[in-house]
Amino acid sequence: MDSFEINKIVAAVLMVALLVIGIGKLSDVIFYVEKPETPGYEVEVEQVSTASSSSTIAVDEKVDIAALMAMGDIASGEKIFKKCAACHSIIKGGKNAIGPALYNVVGRKVGSVEDYKYSKALAAYEKEWTLEELNGYLTKPAKWIKGTKMAFAGLRKEVDRASVIKYLNENSDNPIPLP
Ligand code: HEC
Repeated sequence: MDSFEINKIVAAVLMVALLVIGIGKLSDVIFYVEKPETPGYEVEVEQVSTASSSSTIAVDEKVDIAALMAMGDIASGEKIFKKCAACHSIIKGGKNAIGPALYNVVGRKVGSVEDYKYSKALAAYEKEWTLEELNGYLTKPAKWIKGTKMAFAGLRKEVDRASVIKYLNENSDNPIPLP
């Protein structure tokens, strides 16, 4: 075999190698599929804040609760409660679900349904569910009570909060008088 022939063989091998690589790249281009940036679909829940996060409460604590409550009505509250119903019962004698049963919740002590296992944060929260507390908590649960396990983003609109609080108050043995 002379060197000319060896050269031809080497060249042929190189050509084949180049072709293989070329086809690979080409099919990459042809069959390139764009991946979505965030796989799956978004659900409207908020990450429950951990004890380490130290952001301050951004929820307005000084609300004119009488003016706020005046915006709401029970009928729309019932509709808005559908968002809550995934985790809460509201009827008298209703069972705990992902969240505690909410019949009688307005005015009762925070974290006081006996057979429900609350987060430490709620169990240690020494207050009652006043209109103000409910308004704050329902605005942004994870901000109002750090460490709550209620994985709900909150109701941004005042009118929605007013309505749902009125609805909660209605579902009670002793609805409290509204301001
Ligand atoms: C994804 C499920 C989920 C949704 C949706 C949800 N909650 Fe909750 N809720 C919880 C859980 C879990 C707790 C217990 C929190 C804890 O122990 O920290 C809770 C606690 C509460 C409490 C405190 C009750 C008590 O006994 O102290 C109130 C009031 C409340 N939720 C109202 C609402 C309202 C009103 C809505 C709708 C606007 C709602 N929640 C939507 C899961 C949910």
